[in-house]
Amino acid sequence: MIGVFDSGVGGLTVLRELMKRLPGYSFVYFGDTARTPYGNKSPETIERYAREDTSLLLREGAKLIVIACNTASALAGECLRKEFPVPVFDVIAPSVLRAAAETKSGRVGVIGTRATVGSGVYAERFRASFPNVEVFSESCPLFVPLVEEGWLGKRETKQIVRRSLAPLRRKNIDTLILGCTHYPLLRSVIAERIGRRVRLVDPAAEVAETVVRYLGTYPEVAATIAHTASIRLLVSDETPAFGKLATKILGKPVVIEKTQI
Ligand code: DGL
Repeated sequence: MIGVFDSGVGGLTVLRELMKRLPGYSFVYFGDTARTPYGNKSPETIERYAREDTSLLLREGAKLIVIACNTASALAGECLRKEFPVPVFDVIAPSVLRAAAETKSGRVGVIGTRATVGSGVYAERFRASFPNVEVFSESCPLFVPLVEEGWLGKRETKQIVRRSLAPLRRKNIDTLILGCTHYPLLRSVIAERIGRRVRLVDPAAEVAETVVRYLGTYPEVAATIAHTASIRLLVSDETPAFGKLATKILGKPVVIEKTQI
């Protein structure tokens, strides 16, 4: 199975992109609904949670891990890759590559949770690989609760998005990384508010493309992963929000299993 984890329900945007591109594969998804959100937790706590989430997926039979959560990717991507004996993909590296390829002006914006932005990981990665790119980051902590409440098209949401993006609008960016699982669900509101000329990078699509390429390059790894086109959705707590949003994101009714971390 391909194991995908997130702090909660938002990572299903990543699972959706993976399923689209790898329809025959078996997936196991873990949403840590009991401990969500990760975005306002300390780096130590996020790292510990990410380790526990990965261990759980390996116990369930995952042969490859995708960290769908931007926050966990930012704070724990490197440590998971060092500590676990399977390929581990995070959403940061593919988004950086895509943004660097897209930008013409060399001015790239990143939005994410407080923890993701506070980690400085995007700026660090651009500095290391694309020193000519200037990075402007902004945390948007109100977006996640708005999405989870289903307030996608509300007037208040548009106002909050406009206000949250105002500092970035002044930076004249031409590319913006939607650095949080929930933000692709606000894509059209964000596009309208940041300006139609700004290209949006969706980490969900980028990491899915990376995994497809990897499995194509390493058929021996692909062969270890079951191809029964099955999906298991595990959560650490059964919450009404998960079922509702999961159905919306995946576009079909879902079966959810509660599990112990
Ligand atoms: N999944 C988180 C992320 O992508 C957003 C929700 C949270 O704060 O846990 O950063």
